[in-house]
Amino acid sequence: MANRPLRSQKSFGKHDKDGFIHRSWIKATGLPDHVFDGRPIIGIANTWSELVTCQVHLRELADFVKRGVWEAGGVPIEFPAMSLPETQMRPTAMLFRNLLAMEVEESIRANPIDGVVLMGGCDKTTPGLLMGAASVDLPAIFVSSGSMLNGKFEGRDIGSGTDVWRFSEAVRAGEMSLDEFLSAETAMSRSAGVCNTMGTASTMASLTEALGIALPNNAALPAVDSRRRVLAHLTGNRIVQLVKDDVKPSDILTREAFENAILMHAAIGGSTNAVIHLLALAGRLGVPLTLEDFDEIAREAPLLVNLMPSGKYLMEDFCYAGGAPAVAKELGPLYRRGAITVSGKTQGEIADAAKVWNRDVIGSLEAPIGPSSGVWVLKGNLCPDGAILKPSAASPSLLAHRGKAVVFETIEDYHARIDDPDLEVDETSILVLKGCGPKGYPGMPEVGNMGLPPKLLEKGVTDMVRISDARMSGTAYGTVILHVAPEAEAGGPLALVRTGDEIAFDGPNRTLDLLVSEVELVQRRHDWEAARQPSKYDRGWYKLYIDTVLQADTGADLGFLVGKSSSEVTRESH
Ligand code: FES
Repeated sequence: MANRPLRSQKSFGKHDKDGFIHRSWIKATGLPDHVFDGRPIIGIANTWSELVTCQVHLRELADFVKRGVWEAGGVPIEFPAMSLPETQMRPTAMLFRNLLAMEVEESIRANPIDGVVLMGGCDKTTPGLLMGAASVDLPAIFVSSGSMLNGKFEGRDIGSGTDVWRFSEAVRAGEMSLDEFLSAETAMSRSAGVCNTMGTASTMASLTEALGIALPNNAALPAVDSRRRVLAHLTGNRIVQLVKDDVKPSDILTREAFENAILMHAAIGGSTNAVIHLLALAGRLGVPLTLEDFDEIAREAPLLVNLMPSGKYLMEDFCYAGGAPAVAKELGPLYRRGAITVSGKTQGEIADAAKVWNRDVIGSLEAPIGPSSGVWVLKGNLCPDGAILKPSAASPSLLAHRGKAVVFETIEDYHARIDDPDLEVDETSILVLKGCGPKGYPGMPEVGNMGLPPKLLEKGVTDMVRISDARMSGTAYGTVILHVAPEAEAGGPLALVRTGDEIAFDGPNRTLDLLVSEVELVQRRHDWEAARQPSKYDRGWYKLYIDTVLQADTGADLGFLVGKSSSEVTRESH
């Protein structure tokens, strides 16, 4: 029992017609009278779905959360939230991250619950759930899906996504048969759980630990490992205590917590998508966080984790090597050790209790896996509000490069022309893709890592500089400049680039410039504006999204969702 009246009592604690209505119907789920005596009512927001192997086991895992809630004296009540299957949703699951956030926010606010366990895993579910819960600011804790088992193909480990891109390039280069390619499908995805590389899902799961909003080892325990059930049980225990102690997301998700998330992101070689998600989450909480913070804070941290796509191993190996707590330990004095977590321990206490079991998988500050590997934040006349690049996934020889643009106006234009043997392109060219930002696609898909032209692949070229307003999969690699802001559809200078223009990219100095005269750009802008067509999206979520979405440099949230609502109990429905 909490030592103060809980929010749920405003519904379940009333001894009148309203209380009758709130209790009577929910009792029919099998709840006895005495559970409405003031004990914490714990919502479990579950993104379970058969459309996504990443979350297909979450119904079962929720049962273990419930055990923990009951054991600690709370009452668990599970409810569904959008599942956002990354590999199924068109035009991109990212279009719906903010919809999930809005759904979760309003589900928590509208229902008689005192705290919430957030259950998700696939890329956009983690930020969507966290954003919604952060805006309400009731006690909350996250438990992730866990990753799938390592892929096994032709005697070696293969990684979700990362090897799809590799195999697909090998087929295009004539080095792998189509039959071989297709037979890798079942070998890659062998169990429930999220992608087994350090893609966006496992990056975001690692960041839940760095942010302090999940229990230690939430990221790395495989989905099918029995210890994940134990973790779910313990998560159920903890949320009841968090409600009793009134520990809210705003108490946990402080500026220090975000700094730890940026350090962890750099150390694990995390997905570029995390940049957008952390900016959006910080925006919900009013925590000051800028794109530049990622570059500046991450400079302190080398690459400590040897996982695909930046390295060699997979999430199972990360688990057995010690997982995120061991990375926190290795970050040593860089980590903000005093930051508190939902576990009741500080980050320092968690780090001190961890150990690295395999130095090939998790390095140290003295012997890192690679140099500083956070994101680079670029500025210049091609990206006045910023663009990012993940240096650990790029080719060192291309990190400063000047070349002529080969421009694709849309992704369809790219698909139609990239295989053309007559395409005028060589290895010094820079591929430029437009129309893939938040408003343009809409939803900002993961197409920034455009495949290379076959005629260059056949010559043995393995990487080129690519620039777009898109995102890229956290499992992808290459010298890929992403999230150009403002995007082309919003009238950013990217819209004005033409094939043959020279572009200068200087990674070490963080610049990206279009070498075209100002006079010429003014004329092009005039032409661009004159040629604009009205949007074909004139209804529903698409319209709301396009009309209100912010640009990538601030997290691509909807403008009117930035900030908090509240957990205040609103007026009765009857
Ligand atoms: Fe869900 Fe990769 S598809 S995590």
